[in-house]
Amino acid sequence: MANMNFQTLARHIIEQERKHPEATGELSSLLHDLSLAAKVISLEVNKAGLVDILGFTGDNNVHGEQVKKLDMYAHDMMIRAMDHGGHLCAMASEEEEDIIHIPPHFHVGKYVLIFDPLDGSSNIDANVSIGTIFSIYRRISPDNQPGTTEDCLQPGHNQVAAGYILYGSSTVLVYTAGSGVHGFTLDPAFGEFILSHKNIQTPKKAKIYSINEGNYLYWHPGLKKYIKYLQDEDKATNRPYSSRYIGSMVADIHRNLLYGGIFMYPADSRNPNGKLRLMYECNPMAFIIEQAGGRATNGKQRMLDIQPENLHQRVPIFIGSEEDVKMVEKFMAEVEVKARK
Ligand code: AHG
Ligand code: MN
Ligand code: MN
Repeated sequence: MANMNFQTLARHIIEQERKHPEATGELSSLLHDLSLAAKVISLEVNKAGLVDILGFTGDNNVHGEQVKKLDMYAHDMMIRAMDHGGHLCAMASEEEEDIIHIPPHFHVGKYVLIFDPLDGSSNIDANVSIGTIFSIYRRISPDNQPGTTEDCLQPGHNQVAAGYILYGSSTVLVYTAGSGVHGFTLDPAFGEFILSHKNIQTPKKAKIYSINEGNYLYWHPGLKKYIKYLQDEDKATNRPYSSRYIGSMVADIHRNLLYGGIFMYPADSRNPNGKLRLMYECNPMAFIIEQAGGRATNGKQRMLDIQPENLHQRVPIFIGSEEDVKMVEKFMAEVEVKARK
């Protein structure tokens, strides 16, 4: 007989909640709503090659980048799935300049949801993995009022939950609510997320590095030295490392979470703040990776301690296996010390 002893996401969330008698069930219910949005987006992503959804809408998003239709589909779907649950007081999306209010006829709750509806969207046409990233905070403004921008602009260490949904060879939802990182694979037959990766811990040191090496010329000299170091041969430290770069942060980080490794999107002489966004991409991933025993910084400071100044701010990121992240920080700091002498 088939083994029916599996755990669905819904059951897992309820069981996690039972460990916290003070919990009201609101966060569980919010995560459940999110998983519904994930299933709908996953279906649409899987159909991407079949329906007339590929191609540019002709619009630019707030970062001046071209937006593909599926980005907007995912953005709209997240809002439609989440605005009436009664758990949120505001949302913010990478695809929208300002915060998104809860329509006045819906109940206003105590949480804020921040999301990147579709990450890695330049990969859609090539059938390469993409994802949705989310981050949840408790509001800081008084209850029962519309949420404010300040509710969204909290440092990452205030996150109560974060996660991503990776639309890859299968659809996987990975989340943390502050007690470990758990991964669920969508069973396309049942339409249920089933626990497949229990309490994920990332290796302390690995041999994968992920960075867009096309930007080499513009990097910090310490970073150039570090990458050359990784490419040198030394059996004792497992070098040379392997280079793996998909160009979808969510897919690159998921692989590194499981296998270990370092993912970097540094500042460079053309982009002094790097490319990735603190609120939509870096903070949720930093929370997950720290919960899995890894490290995430901007090269100098813990990512989760950065005080955000605006919703769409960009930040350099070094994230992954703890020893590897510490090593790149060391290389960059050494060059700076030498330069000052
Ligand atoms: P998005 O599709 O949400 O705009 O994010 C794309 C990001 C991220 O997923 C990826 O790591 C990075 O852009 C890749 O950038 P490069 O093409 O500059 O390497
Ligand atoms: Mn993104
Ligand atoms: Mn995006």
